[in-house]
Amino acid sequence: MISVALMGHGVVGSGVAEILYTHKQKLFAAIGEEIDLKHILDLREFPDSPFADRFTKDFNVIADDIEVRVVVETMGGLHPAYEFVKECLSRGKSVVTSNKELVAAYGAELLSIASQQSANFLFEASVGGGIPIIRPINQCLVANNVSEIAGILNGTTNFILTKMFYEGMGFDEALKLAQELGYAERNPEADVEGHDACRKICILASLAFGKHIYPDAVHTEGITKITAADVAYAESWGGVIKLIGSVKKLGRDCIDIIVAPMFVPSHSQLSSIDDVFNGIMVRGDCTGDVVFYGKGAGKLPTASAVVADVVDCIKHLKTRKYLSWADSDNSSVLPYEQSVRAMYVRGVADDAAAAYDEAKAVFGEIHRLSRENAPQGELAFITEPMEFRCFEKRLAEVKSLKAESVIRIGDL
Ligand code: HSE
Repeated sequence: MISVALMGHGVVGSGVAEILYTHKQKLFAAIGEEIDLKHILDLREFPDSPFADRFTKDFNVIADDIEVRVVVETMGGLHPAYEFVKECLSRGKSVVTSNKELVAAYGAELLSIASQQSANFLFEASVGGGIPIIRPINQCLVANNVSEIAGILNGTTNFILTKMFYEGMGFDEALKLAQELGYAERNPEADVEGHDACRKICILASLAFGKHIYPDAVHTEGITKITAADVAYAESWGGVIKLIGSVKKLGRDCIDIIVAPMFVPSHSQLSSIDDVFNGIMVRGDCTGDVVFYGKGAGKLPTASAVVADVVDCIKHLKTRKYLSWADSDNSSVLPYEQSVRAMYVRGVADDAAAAYDEAKAVFGEIHRLSRENAPQGELAFITEPMEFRCFEKRLAEVKSLKAESVIRIGDL
């Protein structure tokens, strides 16, 4: 029997307890031993849980128990999750977490402590919920030089954008529904402002390129400014709007990494990924494009990835799984102003035809878009690819147009 402890009995944590209970036989068959969920750390009481007698409010009960070999952290947030995880790893316990904020902020340090202690620190559930992506990049695609990763990494915003696109639902209504379904973060600002997707692309970039990329180095935009007009223009252009996390390797020590809403052409596999689903494309030099698809949020999908890591830790109690990256100072991140993309612009002018002529004179080749019931004076167009700083400078030169929305065109 292997003793395991769980810290945090929220949406994901309660899903972990549920799977350990309902899939006991399946897990026994996979490991050859029974998993004993010995302690659950939470400040609340759960009298109806089959593990009701295992709850504790004292972290030291877990830290001091030498029988506990694997600790699951599903508390979320940075503190005290960081302190608790660090303490468990320092005592030689393996740790499994679904906490992307923790991995994105302290991954290099915690992986290093795990290595020193010959313990494992696994976080499959931190990106893509139930989709296997960390292990595939780290193991199955290890023979490849990865040149690019791009994906829909946040289920809540994808759910909202899907509801806006197909059902004409308002932003607030769709967000409320996502919260009710348990997809959203404790603070939904992390979803809608892109911070959650940013943490996830940082974890994938760190893993693929071997150096910790910290979220504060990544230009991040959310979806709160997307309007029904932008959605309609994206459709008339031949695509949809998705919140994309993207990282590209530009040179030996330079990556272009960003989180922003993008126009995604309908021929891209990412365009048809809807609702709470996530999709992640990994471009390897041997494999070409590999796309991972599945539920990126929710109790049981995410808990499934956590439990798989628990099983992996139990199978590797004596050997370390090689999962590591070096710390870094973010100097390899290309300033976002130098990133090259085509841009969509929507704005208003007293005379849309004259503004279009002026925009053409400033930008050169542009592609004008139309939509049904556009108000008089509205102008929307797509530019050629250019550095973002060049785009901003030129847009400011189109004096007759008051820009209301600019969105990147994803080359996906
Ligand atoms: N709030 C996150 C999402 C949960 O919507 O994707 C999973 O990380």
